[in-house]
Amino acid sequence: MAVSLKPVIKVSDKLREMLNNAIAREIQVSVQYMWQHIQVVGVKGVAVQDKFKQTAIAEMKHAEKIAERLWYLEGTPTTKPAPIVVGKSLKEFLELDTKAEVEAIEMYREIIEMAKKEGDGTTAFIFKEILEDEEEHHDLFTTMLEEV
Ligand SMILES: [Fe+2]
Ligand SMILES: [Fe+2]
Repeated sequence: MAVSLKPVIKVSDKLREMLNNAIAREIQVSVQYMWQHIQVVGVKGVAVQDKFKQTAIAEMKHAEKIAERLWYLEGTPTTKPAPIVVGKSLKEFLELDTKAEVEAIEMYREIIEMAKKEGDGTTAFIFKEILEDEEEHHDLFTTMLEEV
């Protein structure tokens, strides 16, 4: 008996491209937040330094998770980050990071919709979990922005 080695689920090129855009974005923010962790200055910066590091690590885990899914769906994960902008002050870091999280939230909502449309419940589920993290990050950065 011949056993198929293909994944059971078939998705569109468009969805695969969206997953790759998500990976590019996750690599971007994992570097962006880690370099902010390194470049913070001043009393306020030191107080929140670890938050950047923890968030950077969370983003790298997202990149891994999405890449794993894309590989299963017969796509090749990109190695290129979306444009990284570190910023020059704590306030600027937080403004850039809030913007990045808003972009992620919008992008991942679209991916969830698209995956559902294509009957790919697993990708939708993975992105719902990631979306929850991105909403937490958005909350964290906007809370930090209230007093810088
Ligand atoms: Fe993320
Ligand atoms: Fe995030």
